[in-house]
Amino acid sequence: MIVMAKVDGRQFASDLVVSHKSMIAEIARLAACTSANAAASAPTMDHESATLVAEWFERFARMVHHHHTAEDDDVFPLLAQRDTSFVDSRKALEEDHGALTVAMTAVATALAALRDDCAEPERTLRTRTLAARAADLHATLDAHLAREEAAILERMSRDLTTKDIAGFERKNFKRYNRHDIAWSVSWILESSHGADRDAMIKRVPWPLRAMHRLFWQANYRRLTAPLGPYRAAVK
Ligand SMILES: [Fe+2]
Ligand SMILES: [Fe+2]
Repeated sequence: MIVMAKVDGRQFASDLVVSHKSMIAEIARLAACTSANAAASAPTMDHESATLVAEWFERFARMVHHHHTAEDDDVFPLLAQRDTSFVDSRKALEEDHGALTVAMTAVATALAALRDDCAEPERTLRTRTLAARAADLHATLDAHLAREEAAILERMSRDLTTKDIAGFERKNFKRYNRHDIAWSVSWILESSHGADRDAMIKRVPWPLRAMHRLFWQANYRRLTAPLGPYRAAVK
């Protein structure tokens, strides 16, 4: 997660929840789209759509990888140092991150297969494989986010200082290249809604918001157009 202002532990925990909601919202879109596509008598995810979604997913997976690295290397060790009772939960969460890497790689592989030209019945098989992998990623991510929030939100609010969080932020900026930052700004502003989006807008410096409005938003929407509209029911 990239935090672009001075925040305390409570605000940091609140921002984490918004970033989690945005992650699951986008994977819910992917799962719904690929499931409908697999059930359709004439699947609509063609070579062009699969190419766009594969490019979007590559960036999404890289953002999630940065998010997990920040948790595993920065946030979790400090929480464990401040409260040793976090040890068991920490191990389970790190294992979840490993399982999510496997699930994301499976989706990327299935998308690449659908992007390549192939004839029936192979194409239908690949469409169904992608739907199954996306459903698995959705379930795995949903379970992880619930487990993580139960284990760390209260600890973050209680045990992390503004100085700790500024240290996380400095390390995060070294992880994200400028393309990752641009994409992450678009992702969080496009996939958060209502009060969550209002809170995120306050975190993003105005030059980046302007860049998003002028350039990055259109690209994010182009890549995610095949996923269809956002589902109102996402958490
Ligand atoms: Fe997380
Ligand atoms: Fe996590």
